[in-house]
Amino acid sequence: MYQAAVLTVSDRSSKGERPDTAGPLVARLLEEAGYEVVRTAVVPDEQSQIEDFLKDIADRRLAQLLLTTGGTGFAPRDVTPEATLAVCERMTPGIPEAMRYASMRVTARAMLSRAQAGIRGGTLIINLPGSPKAARENLEAVLPALEHGLEMLSGRPADCAKLPD
Ligand code: MTE
Repeated sequence: MYQAAVLTVSDRSSKGERPDTAGPLVARLLEEAGYEVVRTAVVPDEQSQIEDFLKDIADRRLAQLLLTTGGTGFAPRDVTPEATLAVCERMTPGIPEAMRYASMRVTARAMLSRAQAGIRGGTLIINLPGSPKAARENLEAVLPALEHGLEMLSGRPADCAKLPD
């Protein structure tokens, strides 16, 4: 079983002005997929606070998968992708490509997500949009492929020729 962490990035939710619904939804979807969610948090749209959470989870090896939700759009305070780029050592562009490809079938606004994904140490970090609907649609587009990626990341021999069940 892989461990996962979920970070909600929202000025309003961090101040208690709006309940965080996307974070708990993402955590539930992960648990339904067999992940153990070991840490959840809500931070404002502040790059340093986002980076601190990402680095803490990765550097203390608390989770192999870390999902963020929110802060990927064009608003002046949307900085989740910049925080992710700053902390990752290797980017995994196929993941946001797949999320936007799948999401474009739902809404042309999918192209407005600046979501990034990448690896720091043994942790795969993936940005999701902030609305629960968008977070779910993006996560469901990539979730089935992630386990194979985490297997490779962990250093265990992963057989790429083996098709998923
Ligand atoms: N992707 C899917 N699948 N469904 C959506 O409704 N909304 C888009 C996009 N991706 C959307 C989506 C919109 S309107 C925006 S602005 C961006 O995600 C960024 O969202 P964020 O600023 O909440 O992170």
